[in-house]
Amino acid sequence: MSRTTTPFDQLLAHLETDLGFESSHYNDAYLERRIAARMRRVDTDEYETYTERLRTDPEERKALLDSLSINVTGFFRNPAVWEELRTVLRTISENPGPTRVWSAPCADGREPYSLAMLALDDPEISSRKFEVLATDISEPALDIARAGVYSASRTRDIEGELSLLSEYEPYLEREENRFTVRDRVKEHVRFERHDLLRDEPKSGIDLALCRNLLIYIDTAYKATVVDTVLDSLSPDGYLAIGKTETVPRTCADRLSAVDNRLRIYRLE
Ligand SMILES: C[S@@+](CC[C@H](N)C(=O)[O-])C[C@H]1O[C@@H](n2cnc3c(N)ncnc32)[C@H](O)[C@@H]1O
Repeated sequence: MSRTTTPFDQLLAHLETDLGFESSHYNDAYLERRIAARMRRVDTDEYETYTERLRTDPEERKALLDSLSINVTGFFRNPAVWEELRTVLRTISENPGPTRVWSAPCADGREPYSLAMLALDDPEISSRKFEVLATDISEPALDIARAGVYSASRTRDIEGELSLLSEYEPYLEREENRFTVRDRVKEHVRFERHDLLRDEPKSGIDLALCRNLLIYIDTAYKATVVDTVLDSLSPDGYLAIGKTETVPRTCADRLSAVDNRLRIYRLE
């Protein structure tokens, strides 16, 4: 069946062919919610009118693409998961050679910086040989991540997010409500653009965090994302996905659970 049958489908086709956003890989309900929110902002309730607006208004194109790249994140998001990740990192740290961790997707960088800060903060994790590769599809998110400057606000309690550390001052410099990641943390993290649906797997990764992307991805493509991540792991590698996510059935055979509730797994 052709995808260009309804005005909504035409809008999605425009997104895919003209704006390079692979709308067919994302869940329709999610796309509808995001697009409806933008349409309310510009006072339109017709998909045709909104598609025309996208064709002629570069600002609106940018606003929609920004809103579609779902970049909600935080330092030490879901603290119970991070307590278990601490145990995993201590175990990996006993292996000879570097510890290679991949944060994919990394959004604005707070997840990979959390990994590096945890390694620096925990005496049982060897930070000297600790390397984080942090990737995302979104260049604007990567720009924020590389800068490593975060502002606290009414909805963003940065100090609270950092409470898993014994103290945060060695890792972030605070000036009023602005927190800047210190160089000693940054030097453990390398940022790079990577599309989990299209690009090649990495290799030799000991622990991959692929959290809070699968919820937005259409069921038909979830396995592509998870296979890319699993193909990147070293033979004893670990995987953590988001707390509300599930491993697609076709990938589950490759994994055994370290903690099912916390969604942490290990290659079989
Ligand atoms: C909700 S954030 C998750 C960030 C972090 N892992 C966390 O759990 O807090 C989702 C991120 O996925 C990125 N993203 C969307 N599609 C992607 C793709 N195909 N490949 C890589 N990253 C993608 C978005 O740009 C966004 O930064």
